[in-house]
Amino acid sequence: MSRYTKEELLTILAPVGQEHLLRFWEQLDDAQRDELGGQISSIRWSEVSQWIHDALHGGESTGIPFDKLVPAPYVPLKPQSGSESVGYSEAFATGERLLRQGKVAGFTVAGGQGTRLGYDGPKGTYCFSPVRNKALFQYFAEALLRNMAKYDCVIPWYIMTSPANHQATVEFFQANDFFGLDSANVRFFTQGQLPGFDQNGKAILEAPGRLALFANGHGGTLAALRDSGTLDDMEKRGVEYLAYWQVDNPLVSVCDPLFLGLHHLSGSEMSSRALIKRDPMEKLGHFCLLDGKLIIVEYSDMPSELLNKTDENGLLSFRAGSPAIHVISRQFIRNLTNGTLALKPHRALKKISYVDENGALVKPEAPNGIKLEFFIFDALPFAKSPLILEADRAEQFAAIKNPSGSDSPESCRHDLQERTAKWLEAAGVKVPRKADGALDCVIEISLKRAVSAADIAELVKAGEIPGELEAQSSFVLD
Ligand code: UTP
Repeated sequence: MSRYTKEELLTILAPVGQEHLLRFWEQLDDAQRDELGGQISSIRWSEVSQWIHDALHGGESTGIPFDKLVPAPYVPLKPQSGSESVGYSEAFATGERLLRQGKVAGFTVAGGQGTRLGYDGPKGTYCFSPVRNKALFQYFAEALLRNMAKYDCVIPWYIMTSPANHQATVEFFQANDFFGLDSANVRFFTQGQLPGFDQNGKAILEAPGRLALFANGHGGTLAALRDSGTLDDMEKRGVEYLAYWQVDNPLVSVCDPLFLGLHHLSGSEMSSRALIKRDPMEKLGHFCLLDGKLIIVEYSDMPSELLNKTDENGLLSFRAGSPAIHVISRQFIRNLTNGTLALKPHRALKKISYVDENGALVKPEAPNGIKLEFFIFDALPFAKSPLILEADRAEQFAAIKNPSGSDSPESCRHDLQERTAKWLEAAGVKVPRKADGALDCVIEISLKRAVSAADIAELVKAGEIPGELEAQSSFVLD
């Protein structure tokens, strides 16, 4: 006997016009009925119905009054005056103190599908590094190890997965002994899912007894942090700040003392790094102010007039783009998730496989359905004193999104080695370069050993790195 009856499920579905989900009920065995019943009863249908109604009837318009948008101010990467220098040094020291006191945790959102990369597995398990072919997760683990050693502290690491990649992610860490981290300080939790809908707002079945469910976007983070008990875990450990980064940017500074310190000292509830856009068409979300509130306007939503607008210095007016690197205060997440979450999902048109009236699977050739996704940056307008700090692109950002070209494994390896070369050269090491300036060697220094130019300088001083690297060879420090 199934745990669910058709009648009780109909009491959930009929009020929201989704009874069609039970059209194969009579043909299902008990296990299939259990699965479908479990899926149906786990969804908050009245909320979801409102979202899909808005997505279908809201029209193409974003609802953003573009004439009222102004560029959001940001804190420059380097101090502009002597007095600012003092402030930056204080902020850096504050960030280091927060780390030493164990008030910071790392947080990676790793629930995405990585469709563009076309890699069959959780994206964090993708191996990319120049010599050792390490996985993205290993890079972050080693950066955390270095920071923990440097600040003599524990930095717990929270990793958000999706139901589709959770198991494979956990098994990858287990098989690799957590890359030297204490497994007690690594906590995985899954984000929520939402049904896919057709153009009439009807939830889609991907099998006669199974709903098509999809991860609810990186904004699903907030509810998942609460529901998984991660916020409680932070509280128990005395962690106040989450350093948030995406799974596909191995250059990210996982715990940047300056960023943490500025966040703390400015009383910000959610802070962001900003990349200065290379050109108007670079696909980054834009930091904007709307009626004094900080929002991020997606690249695809921004009118071309604003994308190209320049200021009195000839710079792009809306030049601060988001690489999705944040510091978020625990209490802010608590407050945001205390009742019903105020965030609204965005809609995306996607190809969603479905079963036809005979129960046969149909794989559409063109987008036929709607997925709903929350975005983490929609929390920004709710944050008090949200701070934006410019990021150093060469030091902190090289994402792996595409199989080739820009934002690919190859471009990431290039940027990663250039960063290390820059740090080595600053420490007086001669790095072989070709006539056009390109590196004439391959370099991989584990982040366990060095996460900054200062770390490299120490290694050079200690004689662990020679004064000159050999041309056309590999230099590796594990
Ligand atoms: P992207 O927007 O790049 O999506 O995610 P993706 O799924 O990784 O890649 P594509 O678009 O299918 O090619 C940015 C970050 O947000 C996480 C991803 O894992 C990545 O770290 N993410 C995205 C989630 O954690 N959950 C989601 O539902 C979506």
